[in-house]
Amino acid sequence: MTTEVVIVGTGGMGREIFGMIRAINTRAPAGPSWRVLGFVDDYPTESNVKLAQRLDVPFLGPTRELAAQPPTTHVALGVGDPRRRRETDLRIQRYGLPAATIVHPNAEIGPDCVFAEGLVAAGGARVTTNVTLGRHVHLNQNCAVGHDCTLGDYVSVNPLSAISGYCRLDEGVMVGTTAAVLQSLTVGRDATIGAGACVVRDVPEATVVKGVPAR
Ligand SMILES: CC(C)(COP(=O)(O)OP(=O)(O)OC[C@H]1O[C@@H](n2cnc3c(N)ncnc32)[C@H](O)[C@@H]1OP(=O)(O)O)[C@@H](O)C(=O)NCCC(=O)NCCS
Repeated sequence: MTTEVVIVGTGGMGREIFGMIRAINTRAPAGPSWRVLGFVDDYPTESNVKLAQRLDVPFLGPTRELAAQPPTTHVALGVGDPRRRRETDLRIQRYGLPAATIVHPNAEIGPDCVFAEGLVAAGGARVTTNVTLGRHVHLNQNCAVGHDCTLGDYVSVNPLSAISGYCRLDEGVMVGTTAAVLQSLTVGRDATIGAGACVVRDVPEATVVKGVPAR
């Protein structure tokens, strides 16, 4: 069965999601799983629109174009920044379209994991076991999420970062590229972990930490 999907965002994340969908379709034994109808974007740059069109996918206009879609069309939220992703999701929920869950064929979601709609897992992302993932969680290339973790809505785990077991990352947390979060820690809502950081103690909400050990 092929499901139609509109990608929200012509930026890097939106175009990466297009690549994930293409990989899924190429490897689906029963034919393509997704048909991408186009991109929508409320703040498109000329260069991003051109890059999106080079993928042979039309640019449909601003997100209000979603109102013209039948209720079976899914949306894939290609907005990399967690807070902007939350704001975009809340803005487009009025159209009542389901969120697409996009898991690259080279991503691995282990046994007994639970995830809400809108999960995006890029190639090489690994989630081990008994992990709970909220709405529109983005797991980028080659990141690892260990056993018994809970990631809230709109969390982004960026490439090559590692979240150890029993961690809790609250809604809107951004984990920078190649960062590590040690086991059993809590990272508060909307906190940012800098690229390359090693988090060794709990991080309060809405704070930015960086470095090794992260401060
Ligand atoms: C930590 C971070 C959020 C700070 O952003 P910012 O507030 O705009 O910081 P600035 O660029 O103004 O830098 C402020 C200082 O922190 C330092 N710094 C910035 N990022 C750092 C990092 N990740 N680790 C260590 N130091 C860092 C800068 O060198 C600068 O130091 P200085 O004051 O001695 O010159 C950001 O640099 C970062 O790491 N973001 C994650 C990016 C990422 O992983 N993106 C994923 C894309 S897929």
